Amino acid sequence: MQSQPTFAAMTPIIGAEVSGIDLSAPLDSSIQRQMDEALLSHQVLFFRDQDMTLDQHKAVGRQFGELHIHPSARGPEGHPEILLVHADENTKRTAGDKWHSDVSCDPEPPSISILHLHTLPATGGDTLFSSMYAAFDALSSEMQTYLDGLTAIHDGGPNYRDRAARLGKVDNKQYPRSEHPVIRAHPVTGRKGIYVNSTFTTEICGVPTDEGKAILAFLYAHVAKPQFQCRFRWQRNSVAMWDNRCVQHHAMWDYFPQVRSGYRVTVCGDAPY
Ligand code: SIN
Repeated sequence: MQSQPTFAAMTPIIGAEVSGIDLSAPLDSSIQRQMDEALLSHQVLFFRDQDMTLDQHKAVGRQFGELHIHPSARGPEGHPEILLVHADENTKRTAGDKWHSDVSCDPEPPSISILHLHTLPATGGDTLFSSMYAAFDALSSEMQTYLDGLTAIHDGGPNYRDRAARLGKVDNKQYPRSEHPVIRAHPVTGRKGIYVNSTFTTEICGVPTDEGKAILAFLYAHVAKPQFQCRFRWQRNSVAMWDNRCVQHHAMWDYFPQVRSGYRVTVCGDAPY
């Protein structure tokens, strides 16, 4: 019998700190259910002092579904489902240092991401999370109605090619490019959230170009408002687990040239609707 976990809300809107769960051990079904429910309501969960191997990390992800393989980054030897998250004194651009939902350019973008960091700078390197439910709820009903019928293009090419260019490499690979609703309904909760982000979304379909650009600029500023956010201060062996279907995140790269390093496991999701 495992001890009962506790989930302490970080803000009334988003985020909870979890105690009493050891992610390196298989979770019994009642604890897994409590964690699933907490993730659905708080949208992002934070755990401390989790000493996990890569296999244990992948096992945590598999409890949510099949693991996603990143279209641009190769995992460590023997672990294609692991994404290395690393920055040091040689880094020209870090992953995730703009608001985004992970790999939203995929036709079926990831649902849950689980990030485990083992090396942290002395200060800095926090991750910010913003609730897309709260951002949608804060719009006027007229704006909600206008956006609800629209779709947008999410293109991996510009983002991933820019990363290669900063390393002085030419990247001719084809990356996923998909059309998704601007407002998506969460497949489990049914709640609506904004689903465009400044990392991957390039245009709104079916409206004049300048109108689409103005709407995207408005939404990018809107989703970044502090009232929708929580901010996580990492320690060695902290884990953050977030739901990309209703959350965007932004990894602060304010610690150059210090090292920040760890691994992400990402779970496959469904086509947004
Ligand atoms: C990411 O998954 O986008 C990176 C998040 C982080 O490094 O905090």
